[in-house]
Amino acid sequence: MNIVILAAGMGKRMFSDLPKALHPLAGKPLLGHVLDAARALAPERIIIVHGHGGEQVMARYPDPELIWVRQVLQRGTGHAVLQAAPYLKDTCPTLILCGDVPLIDSATLRRLAGAAGEHALAVLTTRLDDPTGYGRIVREAGCIVRIVEQKDASAAEAALDEINAGIFVAPTPALKTWLARLTDDNAQHEYYLTDIVVNAVRDGVPVVSAMPAATWETLGVNSKSQLAALERTCQRLRAEALMAAGVSLTDPARIDVRGVLRCGRDVSIDINCVFEGEVDIGDRVSIGAHCVLRNVRIAAGAVIQPFCHLDGAVVGAGAQIGPYARLRPGANLAQDVHIGNFVEVKNSDIGLASKASHLAYIGDASIGARVNVGAGTITCNYDGVNKHRTIIEDDVFIGSDTQLVAPVRVGKGATLGAGTTLTRDAPEGQLTVSRAKQVSIAGWKRPVRKS
Ligand code: UD1
Ligand code: CA
Repeated sequence: MNIVILAAGMGKRMFSDLPKALHPLAGKPLLGHVLDAARALAPERIIIVHGHGGEQVMARYPDPELIWVRQVLQRGTGHAVLQAAPYLKDTCPTLILCGDVPLIDSATLRRLAGAAGEHALAVLTTRLDDPTGYGRIVREAGCIVRIVEQKDASAAEAALDEINAGIFVAPTPALKTWLARLTDDNAQHEYYLTDIVVNAVRDGVPVVSAMPAATWETLGVNSKSQLAALERTCQRLRAEALMAAGVSLTDPARIDVRGVLRCGRDVSIDINCVFEGEVDIGDRVSIGAHCVLRNVRIAAGAVIQPFCHLDGAVVGAGAQIGPYARLRPGANLAQDVHIGNFVEVKNSDIGLASKASHLAYIGDASIGARVNVGAGTITCNYDGVNKHRTIIEDDVFIGSDTQLVAPVRVGKGATLGAGTTLTRDAPEGQLTVSRAKQVSIAGWKRPVRKS
């Protein structure tokens, strides 16, 4: 089939500079969700009608297979499909999708296409408790005879609860003739796609319908409020899927997955955690409350305590992170590493069972196994122009409040005394300390206030 996705509207009711098609739902633009459903059908071609903010929308989806058609003036959904007409292959039917109906399922679309067959016009409809804003399906003797928009509806029509989801399958040559006959003689002075129905009826073409498996598939996003409501739906579905696969969620209403979250067995996730990008969590991992994890991999048995921020990090098996730890891109922690409160790690490898338990900055460092990094330790990796590496070999003990001015190396088994500012390499096995000698002045008196 041909697939047309309508995404030219400016989304007036969003009150935003961002084109509506790019507003994120569960971390992915609305258009991205629709494209996923479209691609799952392996169509002959996908044509996207763009307009408002089109350059931005096209830049986001550089796939050369997509055909972009510009609708210069947004004169309605029918006018939008008309722009795509020259690109529609006559020998297969055309499926029309709305860029702002993101959760549509490809299985539902297959059923709609099945209902249309080669010769009928198929409309996706559903019944809503509150149909406000949607086009209403008008039937006579059970058959669809037209669709009336909210703004054009009589009181009796407005009371109908069967709505148009905005998704159609039509025989392509007939669709082209129906589009050519549309007029803008209506309340909004737009060329309504929905008027293809009266044209089909006039031509004696059967108009059939299918309903989605779930109502949320057909919900459109026209306002921030509808976007937020759909986000909740999406998150509820994801939480259900996680629990169905055995993940323990303290509260399924308080988790947000804005990407792909893969979990092993016996994973538990406490409240208010956010997962972005691709997150892989191994068996028996537990994630404390209020963590944000983006593009991270966590191996089996690791414990992430509350209030951690992990981005682009790899956490080894059995590691303990947090509370209040920050792992930045390139943080690569081996098995049994401990990273405690207010420790930041960036672009650094930390070896087996090494610990940084409190208040430290580890950036551009290679740390061996069984190293103890004392409280207040800082790798001074940046000289204002370039970044330099700090190398700390196995079994090193770094005393509290140490600064390692990179590039610098600490040899195997070395000890750095507390307060050291290390500017040259520290030899292995020795104590290195840079510290002013401690003095005590006998008989020293505190100053007294002059009268
Ligand atoms: C439309 C339908 C309504 C249906 C609802 C389902 C019409 C006239 N109305 O109303 O029956 O219940 O969808 O969600 O079709 N667009 C363009 N170019 C335009 C106008 C719109 O590409 O000139 C695109 C929009 O970007 C959007 C889609 O078409 O993705 C629907 O447009 P929108 O203005 O949101 O229509 P609704 O009022 O929701
Ligand atoms: Ca809409």
